[in-house]
Amino acid sequence: MKTLLVIYHSMTGGTEQMARAFVAGATVEESVTTRLLHASTAQATDVLAADAYVFATPENLAAIAGLMKDFFDRCYYPALDRINGRPYATLICAGSDGQNAARQIERIATGWRLRQVAEPLIVCSHAQTPEQILAPKTLVAADLERCRELGATLASGLAMGVF
Ligand SMILES: Cc1cc2nc3c(=O)[nH]c(=O)nc-3n(C[C@H](O)[C@H](O)[C@H](O)COP(=O)(O)O)c2cc1C
Repeated sequence: MKTLLVIYHSMTGGTEQMARAFVAGATVEESVTTRLLHASTAQATDVLAADAYVFATPENLAAIAGLMKDFFDRCYYPALDRINGRPYATLICAGSDGQNAARQIERIATGWRLRQVAEPLIVCSHAQTPEQILAPKTLVAADLERCRELGATLASGLAMGVF
């Protein structure tokens, strides 16, 4: 059995919906165990025990969310040089951009010597005003379907040993 670890944080629900749609797609593959962990509870031991990773975060202030950064800060050195070459993908929920958060994860993952196996999947909620930004998010079905498809693709690739 291979393990696919999905680590996420979400403030207004968008990223969580993306992560759960990804997991729904991935769990179709019976020979892969998919674990969904919130960034605040994920530990280095979880990272070491997994075969592949998905990092799912909002873009806040042109950066990954603080709790996602905290996860990397806590786990980076305990996992360094012990997970080289493992595959990963990124899910970003943003208002209108998301590129900087994707770049930050790419730099951290490069330090971990992970292999990016899909382009960062960025979903924009198009929230503009403070009220819209702070409101709970409901992502459209087409965007959740992209996350579900990525989950199915990653899990089947992992099961077949493609990555
Ligand atoms: C403090 C704060 C800063 C934000 N900064 C950005 C930003 O730099 N770029 C962007 O595209 N969206 C930004 N947003 C919008 C969020 O990325 C967007 O609302 C997204 O849906 C949040 O994901 P979540 O629902 O998982 O929390 C910001 C939101 C907050 C609350």
